[in-house]
Amino acid sequence: MLETGEQPSSEAQAGALLLMPSASGALREDVDALVRDVKDLPPMPAVIMRAMEAVQNPDVPIMTLQRLISQDQALSAKILKIVNSAMYSLRCEVSTVSHAVSVLGVNTVKAVVMAASVEWIFHTAKDLGQKLMAEHSWGTALAARAIARRIRYENVEEALIAGLMHDIGKPVMMKNLRDRYETILGEVYANRADFHGQEMAIFGFSHAHVGSLLARRWNFPPQLVQTVLYHHAPEAAPEYAQLANIVNLGNLLMVKMGIGFEKNGELLPESTPAAVALNLDEADLREVSVEVETMLEATTALRK
Ligand SMILES: [Fe+2]
Ligand SMILES: [Fe+2]
Repeated sequence: MLETGEQPSSEAQAGALLLMPSASGALREDVDALVRDVKDLPPMPAVIMRAMEAVQNPDVPIMTLQRLISQDQALSAKILKIVNSAMYSLRCEVSTVSHAVSVLGVNTVKAVVMAASVEWIFHTAKDLGQKLMAEHSWGTALAARAIARRIRYENVEEALIAGLMHDIGKPVMMKNLRDRYETILGEVYANRADFHGQEMAIFGFSHAHVGSLLARRWNFPPQLVQTVLYHHAPEAAPEYAQLANIVNLGNLLMVKMGIGFEKNGELLPESTPAAVALNLDEADLREVSVEVETMLEATTALRK
């Protein structure tokens, strides 16, 4: 079960209604049941949820991050490993989280927390392209942040997190609808189809629907729930359209750059409705792509 002891709720039904206002009752039940009965996906650890909230706050005190990290063994170990790696060439070993956090600085620590949450989300899909999925999510997150900065979006870290989370429905579908999903993976990998279109054709719902229901379960803020839902159709987003456009465009840039399963070098992200809505041209998007490439390289160590 997704959350221990949780029963099908009117909240989940409301979620399904929100997702597919025109869908038949049977279809709503399908997607609802999938999220409700999903196997092997524990609730998101509280410490990661709290850390993600903290990361969204641009003025989060370093003490808060220190405290959160100390509560999680895996995160603490990762921070210590990074600070003691060759990257920082310190003269003596750092053995406490508080020292490590002060050496690394808030931004690096935030990046490590984010990398850990991506890892956590995709570890359930280990044998099914976990690496490609995580890479794609991380790239989309970086692209969304770069786009958000460029258009002076009010909360660039929120864009980063929305990018990171946009495809959280995929591992759930992979795990629970495995046979048919493997066919989809093959088609997408061979460049014959895209995830969203194939999922809609085969299941009648997509990872965007599943992901947004999951995001609701995890009590994500409404702008994240909605952005996950509309990341393939930002023009339909009733609110938070700007955030949906940012993530949509970040995702398209990753498809163009071939980061993830889906690759399409012919794509022209600058001609999409999202780029038009955000007023970004080809030169802007080229700069964003270069920035993402550099950041992806710079953060390789954080993602190991
Ligand atoms: Fe997607
Ligand atoms: Fe995506």
